[in-house]
Amino acid sequence: MRTIRLSANGEASIEHAAGIIRCGGLVAFPTETVYGLGANALDGTAAKKIFMAKDRPVWDPLIVHVHSREMLESVVPSLPARFDDLFSAFMPGPLTLVIRKSAAVPDVVTAGRETVAVRFPAHSVAQRLIAASNVPIAAPSANRFGCVSPTTADHVLADLDGRIEAVLDGGQCDIGVESTVLDLTATKPLILRHGAVTREQLQRVLGDVDVPDPGTLSPPQTGLLSPGMMPRHYAPRTKLLLSSWCESALASAVEERLEKKVGALVPTGWNISAAAKFDWGRWGDLVTLASRLYAGLRWLDEQKLDVIIAPLPGEEELGGAIRERLLKASGGAMCPPLGGRRG
Ligand code: TXA
Ligand code: MG
Repeated sequence: MRTIRLSANGEASIEHAAGIIRCGGLVAFPTETVYGLGANALDGTAAKKIFMAKDRPVWDPLIVHVHSREMLESVVPSLPARFDDLFSAFMPGPLTLVIRKSAAVPDVVTAGRETVAVRFPAHSVAQRLIAASNVPIAAPSANRFGCVSPTTADHVLADLDGRIEAVLDGGQCDIGVESTVLDLTATKPLILRHGAVTREQLQRVLGDVDVPDPGTLSPPQTGLLSPGMMPRHYAPRTKLLLSSWCESALASAVEERLEKKVGALVPTGWNISAAAKFDWGRWGDLVTLASRLYAGLRWLDEQKLDVIIAPLPGEEELGGAIRERLLKASGGAMCPPLGGRRG
């Protein structure tokens, strides 16, 4: 199959893409977080194609994207307590809610679960595509399973060219890390994935929120709260190691491996002697660091390196989402402390 690139500017392209969705095909499209790979969420056969194109295991459920509260209500039998507060605070936006599902949603979309993950994206192209398709759109991130999520149409094509009908090119995604996933079916709201809506922001609206016990992070298929929580995910092919958060720790981690070809995600202005450096953005500017994270990992992955090293930010605000992605991308591999054993 030839994958066509449609400019997201014109209404004709949106109509073209919506026609593909209505006919049961696959279209990648931009959202404010990352690009999604969309299919008609009410058509099980179409949704199944997403799993094939991504090589995604069928036990990992998809997010259903809507463009209005009315459409959201069409995929759930009732709205949970606190929904209104969350809707007015964060929607449309980078928040995905896990809610009991209605029979309208095919089992393949939810991987047989009784719950569905729903999201109302803030990106105008995503909204216009869903409105023109006139059906909710099931969409995971538009990358091969387990790999780094795409924040440009080029990233999508690098992974999925020839496997999907079209990509709507809407330029670079603003936020750059995936939505926060919040489970509203537990007694207390539970953050299944950290994202652009931070724990602090949710706490201001909901009071208390839970984060999962690390013991639930594996194994992937059985009894897992959210299958995407498995330990290695969002990963480049090159081995990734993490250093602690300061310039001297990153510099030492690189210098201790001079016999290897080392690349690094380097905060602007840090003096690091790596063979390949990606200018990540000013340390402390978490918005920029999040938006450039995946582009940086993808670029470094193309530089034929032995190892990539990245400094790990703290848990506050957007740091929580960046940290979670880096820990998963590296499988949690930290550089040994200063003077420690070489790895
Ligand atoms: O920002 C985003 O969320 C992007 C854009 C395209 O919307 N989408 C995205 O989808 O990141 P995906 O499939 O890569 O990640 C969805 C996560 C996975 O970890 C999946 O296991 C979890 O949500 N999930 C989906 N449905 C669920 C459910 N019913 N219960 C628990 N977790 C669920
Ligand atoms: Mg994904």
